[in-house]
Amino acid sequence: MSSSTCFSNFADFTHYQTRRQQVLEQMQAQGGGIAIIPTAYEMTRNSDNFFPFRHDSYFYYLSGFTEPEAVIVLIANASEQRSILFCREKNPEREIWEGFRFGPTAAREHFGFDSAFAIDTLTSTMPDLLGDARTLFYSTGRDPQLDARLHGWMEAVRARSRSGISAPATTVDIRELLDEMRLRKDTSEIALMQKAASISGIAHTRAMQIALPGRYEYELEAELLHEFRRQGSQAPAYGSIVATGANACILHYSSNNAQINDGDLILIDAGCEYDSYASDITRTFPANGKFSEAQKTLYDIVLASQQAALDCARPGSRYMDGHHAAVRVLTQGMLDTGLLDKNKTGNLDEAIASGAFRQFYMHGTGHWLGLDVHDTGSYRETKKVDDEKPYRKLEAGMVITIEPGIYVRPAEDVPEQFWNIGIRIEDDILITADGHLNLSRDTPKTVADIENVMKR
Ligand code: GLY
Ligand code: MN
Ligand code: MN
Repeated sequence: MSSSTCFSNFADFTHYQTRRQQVLEQMQAQGGGIAIIPTAYEMTRNSDNFFPFRHDSYFYYLSGFTEPEAVIVLIANASEQRSILFCREKNPEREIWEGFRFGPTAAREHFGFDSAFAIDTLTSTMPDLLGDARTLFYSTGRDPQLDARLHGWMEAVRARSRSGISAPATTVDIRELLDEMRLRKDTSEIALMQKAASISGIAHTRAMQIALPGRYEYELEAELLHEFRRQGSQAPAYGSIVATGANACILHYSSNNAQINDGDLILIDAGCEYDSYASDITRTFPANGKFSEAQKTLYDIVLASQQAALDCARPGSRYMDGHHAAVRVLTQGMLDTGLLDKNKTGNLDEAIASGAFRQFYMHGTGHWLGLDVHDTGSYRETKKVDDEKPYRKLEAGMVITIEPGIYVRPAEDVPEQFWNIGIRIEDDILITADGHLNLSRDTPKTVADIENVMKR
């Protein structure tokens, strides 16, 4: 059985051409050279079945091309700037079984490359392209198979040294260029991320409305997947977490097979991918449609902590400011509710400094979001200040998640009314020129909103 490629819902490929041009110019500014960016491999699942194919995000960012077995080569030197695509040949026989392939001629035209060749010619062509390139822009270690082939091509170039041809003397990790670009989303990316978040919001609402004690976690997962696909999303952006009761305290819970009990909270962390862009939303809601007093108390603490982090989501804030703001509100809430015992942990500042809050909040407050759910890009500045690299400042066009939580595992010194409550609230936040835009704003979030959509 074959894998399938996912086709784009959008047909405008000029964005990809513009990005390739930006990379070429950065390469030129560094003295020129050659860049090699492969897509992902098809992976066997079992027997002759493949996992659904998902292209490599860097490759897609520069091409929009979703077929497997493809490599982008960019060349920047004194005499030319050129972008080349290597891809599968057309193959009428295989296309009967597996579906359409562009083939080099149509792919070159459709995706705006300067030239395109059959992937089978990569090995015979690369030594010529590598010869006399000053710098190799490539990400070593990500693709051991290609690393080995590249090694062979470099040796082939070095073998020509007597005719005056030399291999690239330096290697720059191409991700240094691409990560910085991917961090700042352009308008086409923002539109796709808004679409992904909107679909996921509808899916979360649907799951809230179908939830009932007695149903199973996987029934809610099925509702999410149904809505994702129904709305044109190609796949979930990551494995959906549907965790009822104590399962909500397992951060990466994935079995989704437990029965839902009356009185449980249900934590759903799920987001669709739309045209390769991820959404990542968490909501926590009561199985029976009504929060208990204990659940509501902790829920409102998490919600207030998220608001504190949201207040930091604007240009000029440092990446970690939101986390620190959320931790302050969460820790104060832990002290107020007796989750933390003041007599043992001391006051707010002491409970933060000692890390006592980590008993109930043990993860970070977010991450970059984009083509990958945990998107690429450094969280810190590149230059050291006082022997440390400060967290980078947020800029318009960056997208982050904000996802504080509280997870209460039973323990003797923890008030029993809170045992097994796990709550996380996660939204997808675009930094704008004057603040932020919550891309997942339509997903019910306050106690009142959630109880309202769950009314039967
Ligand atoms: N769903 C993965 C995360 O929230 O980071
Ligand atoms: Mn998530
Ligand atoms: Mn997340």
